[in-house]
Amino acid sequence: MNIMMQTKPFSLPPLPYADAALAPTISERTLAFHYGKHHKAYVDHLNEAVTGTPYAELKLDDIIKKTFMDATKTKIFNNAAQTWNHTFFWACLTPKGGAPTGELAEAIERELGGFEKFKQNFVKAGVEQFGSGWVWLVSKKGKLAIEATPDAVTPMAQGKKCILAIDVWEHAYYLDYQDRRAEFLKAVTDRLLNWDFAAQNFERTG
Ligand SMILES: [Fe+2]
Repeated sequence: MNIMMQTKPFSLPPLPYADAALAPTISERTLAFHYGKHHKAYVDHLNEAVTGTPYAELKLDDIIKKTFMDATKTKIFNNAAQTWNHTFFWACLTPKGGAPTGELAEAIERELGGFEKFKQNFVKAGVEQFGSGWVWLVSKKGKLAIEATPDAVTPMAQGKKCILAIDVWEHAYYLDYQDRRAEFLKAVTDRLLNWDFAAQNFERTG
């Protein structure tokens, strides 16, 4: 592995679709702001925060794991985790959302009470996350679970496998839904979740 590659500045990864691809569930304006302003700012601030520190030489995943719960590294953790979380979130969405299939569908049936129950509890967990944060489908010790995390906190920092996520920071929905977070979460869960990506993440959990 080329260590020099890891010391280069982090860059904003391209979106996997056009800004307008998720409309009307997520408008072009929301996506342009969310990706082009918010996500970009996390990447820029991460680069500023790691410059001149040993973290500049680490991969993003390792920066997140090493700075999690370290009160002296909050700025690095927050920006690294939000950089990771947003890149993951964009991959969780697709204009062709649908329903899980195969082994993941079977696991949702067995461990989370089925797809309808999953959708209800996923939306509920996102609504009940107080303030900014994320709602996740994760695998921990081989079992599926729905979790919500505050601010930038990401289950991967806690050693869990992330399968799907939705951003519940106000910047994710306010232009389109104002304060109606539940409506946003239900619409995205019903129409935009990328179950092919979720299946890939699930396979990797073994
Ligand atoms: Fe966001």
